[in-house]
Amino acid sequence: MLSASVTIDPAFVVGPVRPRTFGSFVEHLGRSVYTGLHEPGHPTADADGFRGDVVELTRELGVTTVRYPGGNFVSGYRWEDGIGPVELRPRRLDLAWHSTDPNLVGVDEFMRWCARTGVEPMMAVNLGTRGVQEALDLLEYCNVPGGTTWSDLRRANGAEDPYRIKMWCLGNEMDGPWQIGHKTAQEYGRLAAETARAMRMVDPDLELVACGSSGSQMPTFGEWEHTVLTEAYEHVDHISAHAYYWEEDGDLASFLASAVNMDHFVDSVAATADAVRAAGKHTKHIHVSFDEWNVWYQKRAESRPPSGDDWPVAPVLLEDRYNVADAVVVGNLLISLLRHTDRVHAASLAQLVNVIAPIMTEPGGRSWRQTTFHPFALTARHAAGEVLRLAVDAPVQDTAKFGPVPVLDAVATHDPETGAVVVLAVNRSLTDDVALDVDLRGFPGLRVAEALTLSNPDHTWSATADDATSVLPRANTTAKVSDDRAHVDLPPVSWSMLRLERV
Ligand code: AHR
Repeated sequence: MLSASVTIDPAFVVGPVRPRTFGSFVEHLGRSVYTGLHEPGHPTADADGFRGDVVELTRELGVTTVRYPGGNFVSGYRWEDGIGPVELRPRRLDLAWHSTDPNLVGVDEFMRWCARTGVEPMMAVNLGTRGVQEALDLLEYCNVPGGTTWSDLRRANGAEDPYRIKMWCLGNEMDGPWQIGHKTAQEYGRLAAETARAMRMVDPDLELVACGSSGSQMPTFGEWEHTVLTEAYEHVDHISAHAYYWEEDGDLASFLASAVNMDHFVDSVAATADAVRAAGKHTKHIHVSFDEWNVWYQKRAESRPPSGDDWPVAPVLLEDRYNVADAVVVGNLLISLLRHTDRVHAASLAQLVNVIAPIMTEPGGRSWRQTTFHPFALTARHAAGEVLRLAVDAPVQDTAKFGPVPVLDAVATHDPETGAVVVLAVNRSLTDDVALDVDLRGFPGLRVAEALTLSNPDHTWSATADDATSVLPRANTTAKVSDDRAHVDLPPVSWSMLRLERV
């Protein structure tokens, strides 16, 4: 048994717990929309064809924002294809995912799904094959109350009131050579600035996200952010970050330490933004929108079945099945995002349904929770109030990718209204339990209200539609508080949530 300790002090406030940290992402990709969100004829479908079981699971997951409609897809998308009578909508080739989009779902249906689910939309505009004018048209369609061609068309299509969409992504991953309409940083920075400037003429209160890097491994990482922000600093509010992690070549220790990379990613982007701020004599700060993050086994994903159709509608793509170790990493990535709540003002788990997703569906049938569902849902439910920085003392474990890394990673939140303190922790040791001692001297008189741990002797266990409950987080009976110190034992490769409340 290893030992670790953390000290929690109410004075060490990083910033508020931001609801937008618990966002997700729906792209026209594979079965994310069609047979995921949307399946007319499904026993739970509503009048729009949206699956009620998926709405319920999305609510249970605690998702607050949903980015839409892509992703790589958006860089070839004509949003006008998705409005008006469904039977008149064109079928289009989706070059990003080599599929056919029947356009049965467009902006109006998506907005109705958001309203039904209670999530905030985060809309992306196409800056791959399109530009300023098409972004303005979509903004007019969505946000102008009426009296113009596009806004009156929205009303004619059934939405009397404007959608008032606040968050807008200026394109997607424009640094990636795979992106339709890929650009240099200079080209994209100019286009983002001009698109943002024009969009603000329509609505000055928008929150605009410029594309940052598709990953910290990109050869242009850092330079890209610097150039884009030099062009667009005054016109945007956020710069995006995208990161996917997976266990490579059986290197579980490095995989479990993926949050080290996320920490470095956020710190680097924040430092670059601050350098541009200083050089440009700007006063405001640019925040990070970590609007794609997850575990994604890019080499292992289930892919399209041999249907014989070269441009299929809603093929099986990127349907990763997540195991217990993946869930521990997802929980740890959320710890990293919370720890950076001063700079990360929005984040999106990519994605929501079927495509590298916590929620899976069978066409015409059941839906179920993957292992990664649980740390997300519990963090979204329990993290509240302020994020506290912890003093952590833990033994280290060697990793091939990151060198020596503490086996324990943790963050805490404190809700001044209720007095509740929540500790979120992972044990990244492959072999050893960690006896965790929490010094609560700044919070006298707390008791354990709930202690849950997600682990399994077989960390490769994955949920299926037939058995999605074998690794539900279970009560951790070792948790106790005495003399203003909490104690809990954390099994190897585990994620835990400890909720402490006033006696
Ligand atoms: O989430 C899947 C894909 O990953 C998105 O379409 C793209 O933005 C990223 O590369």
